Amino acid sequence: MVLVSGSGTNLQALIDASADPAYGARIVAVGADRDGIEGLARAERAGITTFVDRVADHPDRAAWDASLAETVAAHAPDLVVLAGFMKLAGPAFLARFGGRTVNTHPALSPAFPGMHGPRDALEYGVKVTGATLFVVDAGVDTGPIVAQVAVPVAEDDDAASLHERIKTHERAMLVEWVGRLAREPWTIDGRRIRFHPKEQ
Ligand code: GRF
Repeated sequence: MVLVSGSGTNLQALIDASADPAYGARIVAVGADRDGIEGLARAERAGITTFVDRVADHPDRAAWDASLAETVAAHAPDLVVLAGFMKLAGPAFLARFGGRTVNTHPALSPAFPGMHGPRDALEYGVKVTGATLFVVDAGVDTGPIVAQVAVPVAEDDDAASLHERIKTHERAMLVEWVGRLAREPWTIDGRRIRFHPKEQ
């Protein structure tokens, strides 16, 4: 299951990877918190079931959160991937899918959490930033880290060019590690992700 809010290039990378049965993961559905986005169109073109659950269609955020958890549960996913999903997972969602929901962030956590990772890294003046895949918890980009990739900042970067360079690496990281999370047993030990090789 993949949740998106925007252009869905990370989703597209997962769609392409999962076309190979050896990848080990299949996308059971794609959900969004808004209509008319390219992410949903990508899923539809790939023949994947989609749904939209908008905050505005509920009395409050808590009701939306509970509804989203219900809808996701109906698809019985093993893993939920937030791929450019611009909403925080709420308590009802985490009660059901905590520990098996991952998100990708365009910065090297714990630096530059939040909505503007590339811009904040650029303004701080770091020379290396990157992307982080992490298991979602109740904080903003704070959960246990699954993988990170470093990306150099160019002298003439603006936030958009830096974000685009990060996204190229972010997509490759996402594909590699979501595949691994799907194929191999793993547990969370404190803040560390531990993979457990299967008995031969
Ligand atoms: C990614 O960089 C993601 O980390 C961030 O928003 C971007 C989404 O891109 N939160 P896309 O929709 O997958 O193209």
